[in-house]
Amino acid sequence: MLKSLIRTVPHYPHQGIMFRDITTLLKDPAGLRDMVARIVARYQDMQIDVVAGIESRGFIVGTPVAYELNLGFVPIRKRGKLPSETVGRDYELEYGSDRIEIHVDAIKPGDRVLLVDDLIATGGTAEAATKLIEDMGGIVVECCFVIDLPDIGGRARLEGQGQKVFALCEFEGD
Ligand code: PRP
Ligand code: MG
Repeated sequence: MLKSLIRTVPHYPHQGIMFRDITTLLKDPAGLRDMVARIVARYQDMQIDVVAGIESRGFIVGTPVAYELNLGFVPIRKRGKLPSETVGRDYELEYGSDRIEIHVDAIKPGDRVLLVDDLIATGGTAEAATKLIEDMGGIVVECCFVIDLPDIGGRARLEGQGQKVFALCEFEGD
């Protein structure tokens, strides 16, 4: 099954962190196909207009999903990476803060947007992304992840803000 193809790397990048590594899932032909197919099946009748993925692992998951849904893909990138005019949002990390940005013409008011990333932990990254989409007048239909770490609370955080959240699998005890 999909979850068993995800590798756990203990103590990366810090002591005590159990890193959930999707590279082993991505490398597996049936696993990659299953991951994309399960996401596509969920959203194919939800009138999505565009898929937005968060740099960098959200690009890997979101682009084949958009392709299979016959939709376009827009990247939400870390600061300074997008060449044209952007809007951005700052968000908190464990230590310090970071910023994600999107092109101002990537989402039109009223667009129904599927937000995709590989994993939700604190939810800080996804929260900033949902706010960016809404800043532009987009409607976040759902936030979709391959992995949820429910003990860290990101899903509850987003749901507390009225967002819908879906994940293909969960790892508890993180
Ligand atoms: C990781 C992961 C998510 C985010 C989740 O990305 O891919 O995007 O952190 O954490 P949060 O829910 O606590 O915000 P990272 O910033 O490490 O970058 P990467 O995807 O480029 O590896
Ligand atoms: Mg990421």
